[in-house]
Amino acid sequence: MEIIIADDADQMSRTAARIVRRVLNAKPNAVLGLATGSTPLGLYRELVRMHREEGLDFSQVTTFNLDEYVGLPKNHPQSYHWFMHENLFRHVNIAPQNIYIPLGTTDNSAAFCAWYEERIRQCGGIDLQILGIGSDGHIAFNEPSSSLGSRTRIKTLAQQTIRDNARFFASIDQVPIYAITMGVGTILEAKKIVLLANGPHKADAVAAAIEGPVTSMITASALQLHRDVTAVIDRDSAAQLKMRDYYVWVQEKMVDAP
Ligand code: GLP
Repeated sequence: MEIIIADDADQMSRTAARIVRRVLNAKPNAVLGLATGSTPLGLYRELVRMHREEGLDFSQVTTFNLDEYVGLPKNHPQSYHWFMHENLFRHVNIAPQNIYIPLGTTDNSAAFCAWYEERIRQCGGIDLQILGIGSDGHIAFNEPSSSLGSRTRIKTLAQQTIRDNARFFASIDQVPIYAITMGVGTILEAKKIVLLANGPHKADAVAAAIEGPVTSMITASALQLHRDVTAVIDRDSAAQLKMRDYYVWVQEKMVDAP
């Protein structure tokens, strides 16, 4: 895994945006896998800036979001549909028909999840997947004990995740209990993955994901099995990494690598 330790969240976001730009420059019709949560907000702001100021073009891009709460309609302010439109899609020139987000209001979730997987395949697979990490080490909504081979399906959220996400809702009772989420197996099929994390509250999860054993108890640790993952993390979230000095050394030496 490539590990880039940024000075702060802003630098993390700018670094991740440059990776997205590189992918889009090489393949203007790339398929992006997108995440929600507070972590990628700065990345989306930076992509919007690149679109406005540098002409970064999304006209041929297709996106698949990782997950969505079950039961929230698309226009609910805490739905991930709403989040993505507010924070990215309405500010760039992406074609609405190229946007895929799990439908939390489907009345046939099994059929929907199978269709979602099939659409990813039909679009050629995900070229670049953006990920955040939950404080319990989850990616998307793959809570501890999720199969590392799992596919898109309904998951019951962990109580910790419900507590973490309660800050976005009027009260904890309003946080949905279920979500439709890509599986760990789905995520691992992306050609390239960027894992983002910032803040001291992510330090334990980041250390477990990057340096701990591969275990379904920390679903982000499955990323160790993927051949092209870049973790872009800020100093605070890198604080518990045992090999932190080595990662910084590698970053410095990469510049002149043969
Ligand atoms: C949610 C999302 C994840 C996200 C995580 C962390 O549970 N399903 O995709 O990575 O929250 O969120 P935040 O970035 O707000 O800490």
